[in-house]
Amino acid sequence: MEGVTDKRSLKTTFHSSDIIIESPGRINLIGEHLDYNGGQVLPAAINLKVRLNFKKNGTRKCNCYSKNYDNHFEIDLDKVEVSEKEWHNYFLGVVHFIEQAHPNKIKGFDCIVESDLPIGSGISSSAALECGFAKGLDALFSIGLSDDEVITISRDAEHHFVGTKCGIMDQFAVVRGKKGKLIRLDCNDLSFEYISANIEPYSIVLLNTNVSHNLATSEYNLRRQECDDALKAIQEKYPEHDVLARVPEDIVKEFESKLASKIFNRLLYVVQENARTITASEALENENLKTFGQKMFESHEGLRNLYQVSCEELDFLVDFAQEHEGVIGSRMMGGGFGGCTINLVHKDRMDSFITEAALAYDLKFNIRLSPYTVAIGDGVKRIK
Ligand code: GLA
Repeated sequence: MEGVTDKRSLKTTFHSSDIIIESPGRINLIGEHLDYNGGQVLPAAINLKVRLNFKKNGTRKCNCYSKNYDNHFEIDLDKVEVSEKEWHNYFLGVVHFIEQAHPNKIKGFDCIVESDLPIGSGISSSAALECGFAKGLDALFSIGLSDDEVITISRDAEHHFVGTKCGIMDQFAVVRGKKGKLIRLDCNDLSFEYISANIEPYSIVLLNTNVSHNLATSEYNLRRQECDDALKAIQEKYPEHDVLARVPEDIVKEFESKLASKIFNRLLYVVQENARTITASEALENENLKTFGQKMFESHEGLRNLYQVSCEELDFLVDFAQEHEGVIGSRMMGGGFGGCTINLVHKDRMDSFITEAALAYDLKFNIRLSPYTVAIGDGVKRIK
């Protein structure tokens, strides 16, 4: 069979797919920018998803089509390299790293992607795409990838093809998510446990600012570098401390006068956020939701002032939420510089909160807000 490049043929693929995968986005209740610092995080998969349809096409070409972008591109299996187009790199990276670990398993295929996940909104549409794509190829060609491999292949694609030196949280949540459960993940040794998301009578509401400042990738990679610099300085005196999130606060204080203030602030944020995340997840287990929510507000303060990854649109929404009596916790979520805030909102006040926030945001920035009330769902899975 010839490579299927025209849209009409892709439509046929869509209706007669061999494999269909659903791959979710993720939220993170608390523990931001800690995954690459060996800290604790509290993510979960959500009920917003990417759907991927796969069919073999009997060639050496792979046709990838995004329904959302109405855009198509072709991968030549004999020439898989980094592309100038960012969205191609998610696919290329995954094919490259599967091929490296399991040579010659992938043959030609058609893949159609459609997504509920807004790009650049901090709910990890990229990890959803990469993990879903890896899982689909695994099923289509009986490769035998383990869940751990799906996670690391997707992370490596992000590092080496897309260019974001991300941590492991997003891929982990997308693959290991479980309905109704948060994942308490220790990013130092990747040990984890599921904890029940008992948040009644509150709901999780995401407010998408619909801005995505283009600093996001460069500043993200810079934060990683700054954290490495802080750790190196600490290790010169205390070589036994090799995990930034776990450096004791008294040692942190000692470095206040020794580090550039910016680097010191990054360090302080990381250590404080880790402690906050531990306190918050204990509070959740004890059904102390007020404390949990308070820790979310504190997390935002740290991200805004010390880690400096927020932006005025996110700050506006968190400030607004803090004044709203139905909200017990709010903060920016994900890498920052735009995207969503995550809010714990009383069920009876949800409609008024969303309406009032959208109005205030529109008045201030002349931008439409996109609200999402999310449920915690399962990780990536094959549905056909
Ligand atoms: C992005 C990255 C994650 C994590 C978050 C911040 O989503 O992909 O690895 O670092 O930002 O917590």
